[in-house]
Amino acid sequence: MGATRRRALVTGGARGIGRAIVSELADRGVDVVFTSRKPSPEMAGAEPYDLLDGDAEDLIGRCVRRLGGLDTVILNAGEWAGGRIEQLPPQDWWRVVETNLRGNHLLARAALPALRASGAGSLLLVSSVIGQAGFPGDTAYASAKSAMTGFARALAKESGVRVNVLAPGFVDTDMTTGLGERARRRIVERTVLGRFGTAEEIARAAVFLAEDATFCTGAVLTVDGGWTL
Ligand SMILES: NC(=O)c1ccc[n+]([C@@H]2O[C@H](COP(=O)([O-])OP(=O)(O)OC[C@H]3O[C@@H](n4cnc5c(N)ncnc54)[C@H](OP(=O)(O)O)[C@@H]3O)[C@@H](O)[C@H]2O)c1
Repeated sequence: MGATRRRALVTGGARGIGRAIVSELADRGVDVVFTSRKPSPEMAGAEPYDLLDGDAEDLIGRCVRRLGGLDTVILNAGEWAGGRIEQLPPQDWWRVVETNLRGNHLLARAALPALRASGAGSLLLVSSVIGQAGFPGDTAYASAKSAMTGFARALAKESGVRVNVLAPGFVDTDMTTGLGERARRRIVERTVLGRFGTAEEIARAAVFLAEDATFCTGAVLTVDGGWTL
């Protein structure tokens, strides 16, 4: 049986989409712990963690001790680094895959015992529409994000907990501030709803899939204002 108050871990919860997810969960009365690479002292509920070299078992242990267990894990933290294949140095290309795929593989693996123990465990991976549709300059990011979907579907079949994927489209956060005016205009033109999404809109969909959608597993929810249509 799950606990009365659900207990959640959100990676990368100090800013952007992750911060909005933390806030949405807290508003619903979920006990939340989140990670940041360098949490500041005023960030209550934050645990330090780096996807590139963090000890996943140790992080999950810390969260379980703080919360008394884990019912939901939202693997939101991720890195984007772009560049056409000839331009992006191989070590940067593989770092993107390592952060997004290896980093999340290790966390999912470490979290499974706690999620199984919950009796109503839910794992959500934050992927991207770039993993579905591709984008010029994004072979690394697209490879990592599409692999996360295959990973989640296989894990849904073998793990005994719900495992789902959220695929956001273009959202106004630090990750997209570097887009040039022309690229931004083209994205908006292609988006049926004619704008970028907000972190809060993505967070509501994430919490729906992680917490409410109890008959969904192996599902990929695209939240992109129609960009992939
Ligand atoms: N913005 C978009 O348009 C968009 C679209 C589709 C998918 N996404 C995905 O949504 C997720 C959140 O992105 P965002 O838009 O909120 O981006 P963001 O504002 O740039 O935030 C990135 C988050 O990932 C964390 N992070 C980055 N590298 C990390 C590492 N090596 N180890 C641990 N944490 C790391 C950061 O934590 P720190 O506090 O340590 O910096 C931060 O919380 C990502 O997985 C991203 O790929 C974003």
